[in-house]
Amino acid sequence: MLPVSFPSSYPSSFRPAAATCMLVLAALVAISAAHRPAAATDVAVPVEKTAPPAHAGAAYAPAAQGKPQASAAQLTELGRLIFSDASLSASGRMSCASCHDPRHAYGPPNALSVQTGGPDLRTPGLRASPSLRYLQTLSAFTEHHHDNDGDDSIDAGPTGGRMWDGRAGSAHEQAGMPLLSPAEMANESKGAVARKLARAAYADKLRAAFGNDLFADPASTFRAASMALEVFQQSPADFYPFDSKYDAYLRGQQKLSAAETRGLRLFNDPGKGNCASCHISAVTADGAFPLFTDFGLIAIGVPRNRRLPANADPAFHDLGLCGPIRTDFRDRPEYCGLFRTPSLRNVAVRQSFFHNGVFHSLEEAVRFYAERDTHPGRWYPRGRDGRVKKFDDLPPAYHDNLNADPPFDRLPGDRPALTNSEVRDVVAFLRTLTDADQLRAATGAAPRPPR
Ligand code: HEC
Ligand code: HEC
Repeated sequence: MLPVSFPSSYPSSFRPAAATCMLVLAALVAISAAHRPAAATDVAVPVEKTAPPAHAGAAYAPAAQGKPQASAAQLTELGRLIFSDASLSASGRMSCASCHDPRHAYGPPNALSVQTGGPDLRTPGLRASPSLRYLQTLSAFTEHHHDNDGDDSIDAGPTGGRMWDGRAGSAHEQAGMPLLSPAEMANESKGAVARKLARAAYADKLRAAFGNDLFADPASTFRAASMALEVFQQSPADFYPFDSKYDAYLRGQQKLSAAETRGLRLFNDPGKGNCASCHISAVTADGAFPLFTDFGLIAIGVPRNRRLPANADPAFHDLGLCGPIRTDFRDRPEYCGLFRTPSLRNVAVRQSFFHNGVFHSLEEAVRFYAERDTHPGRWYPRGRDGRVKKFDDLPPAYHDNLNADPPFDRLPGDRPALTNSEVRDVVAFLRTLTDADQLRAATGAAPRPPR
């Protein structure tokens, strides 16, 4: 066996009190609703500068007798500090921000397919680090998703949940996991994390938010940190600013270039890219701006990444929804090969693509869609018999699970759904999905003062 530790070793024992969780959720729902971006029609409404933020005074948890009531602002500030605190890792050199860098839309800062972590920072993970932006409406995993867009009779199948395989139920459940994962921050216990938090520069702020005796109880300390991380990850300015060029276009404030306009049309056209069928590009019926994902779990058969240490074992396959990291659907062969559709917002700041990080250029990732079926030999290796081993990362027993909608509806030798110049147009369009702060980070320009 190879020394691969799965982020899956995230414990399932971390279950916050249900009541606390409900309160947190209710408050968060209120926050996200209040921050729904202005639809094209109501942009002219002036925002009153002095209006208090929607979260002012919001309560996140019932404070016990004699304990302070942490505010959303306090929790956000604490979560931000914890998020980039490398002293909270076994190595002392890795924080959440190492793999989810704010200057890379909370995605990986480098071109590695998977990041390495653990006590010596040499344990490779199994999957690409996702961007943490635009997850604010991601719901818990369900096997049967019905849209509330007027026609709820269609079962869209497995949808939602955190992680590429949807296995983490809520942000709350997820928030503390990487701190303990052996391939990531690798703390041996919640107690070890609690001791580090007690020594942190912001320990007094934690006491002010949660009570002077917080550090007497390691479980409470760990829970406090998880809650702060969760609330921070719901901060609109940091995690869902909706200020890309495409957002400005939707608000009628900017025009797209000729190439971007062609790219958008190809992205939406069911007979060409058909991308928008999974990566939603239009304002929703209730006026919310598009997230470029429907959060559905789908098998598209990306090539095996032979550079991943786990894949040195030819018998090993990361099958997503049916395991082996996720364990509750191991006896569901129809779920093998399915991964959650990622948002394409800020995709142009990434340097590796798909769950296994197999591609390193956006153009290549898009061309894969056009040529998977028409020119499989360009994407998959040949076996000893000289024949192309199409879908080399999914055992043949599961090939029926693969998506065959356009652009995946062709045969070898057919014309690809997108020509090379059309692929470039789609990429030009995808670049309009980069948030304003990320463009500034890329050009090294000074941050814009708040509006
Ligand atoms: C060593 C790199 C690494 C570190 C450090 C790390 N993560 Fe992650 N994170 C990942 C990977 C890889 C995934 C996807 C795992 C999977 O799908 O199995 C992920 C997934 C997530 C997700 C789910 C996103 C989604 O789209 O569903 C959240 C939320 C998250 N991480 C938050 C954090 C927080 C908070 C921290 C710090 C406490 C952290 N991560 C530290 C690599 C990392
Ligand atoms: C049938 C649903 C579906 C359609 C149609 C679709 N995608 Fe995807 N897309 C996915 C899924 C699922 C993944 C993740 C697959 C994986 O990693 O195994 C993905 C991943 C991606 C990624 C990698 C993002 C990242 O963060 O690594 C890009 C880029 C992308 N899609 C672009 C497109 C474009 C461009 C089109 C149209 C040509 C398109 N997609 C059509 C479902 C779809």
